[in-house]
Amino acid sequence: MTAVAPSLLAADYLNLGAEVEKMAAAGADYLHFDVMDGHFVPNLTFGIDMVAQIAAKSPIPLDVHLMLANPEKYIEAFAKAGAAIISVHIEACPHIHATLQAIKKTGAKAGVVLNPGTPAESLTAVLQEADLILQMTVNPGFGGQSFIPETLENIKKLAKWRDQHSYNYLLEVDGGINEQTAEIAKQAGVDILVAGSYLFKHANPLKAIANMKK
Ligand code: DX5
Ligand code: ZN
Repeated sequence: MTAVAPSLLAADYLNLGAEVEKMAAAGADYLHFDVMDGHFVPNLTFGIDMVAQIAAKSPIPLDVHLMLANPEKYIEAFAKAGAAIISVHIEACPHIHATLQAIKKTGAKAGVVLNPGTPAESLTAVLQEADLILQMTVNPGFGGQSFIPETLENIKKLAKWRDQHSYNYLLEVDGGINEQTAEIAKQAGVDILVAGSYLFKHANPLKAIANMKK
């Protein structure tokens, strides 16, 4: 079954505890946490202490998406804060093989992220190392953008390579996911759907998550 990870970027920050509870009660499998540095992406968001406070209380695991230059500097801190999955962008990591190994050494699952313009082939040497591959289906930096369907070509290739070579990575998509785009992404082979605005603005997230998982 497909897993769903609501992105806290779209939550009501004045009621974060209640927002986390609401998504967990609605059947979310992970909480997706967007960390932005105003440098790798043109926006700023949350940091380590916020992850730590939420991880201490959250009934579901934290999926931490690092949109940072030099993300390797922060791996240990986010792992100590309680991140279950830590994902870094291939475009920000000249030593991606070593970085994925460094993530796994902390006990967290190691994810690698592809921007819409980055070919799936850029990961061929690390497919064995990755626990998760996150395909951006919008340009990273902001919530509420429109899904870019061409990005699913990467997902299809990665799903095919996983079948052919028995790799173990999970496939995740992030950006512009709603019930319709979730359906197309699932057909392409996705295991985890990240959705921000769609779920947090939805009147009935329980129903929306159940539909996305079908
Ligand atoms: C964008 C973030 C996403 C964002 C998705 O850079 O990585 O996780 O929250 O938001 P929606 O679902 O609104 O496109
Ligand atoms: Zn994200």
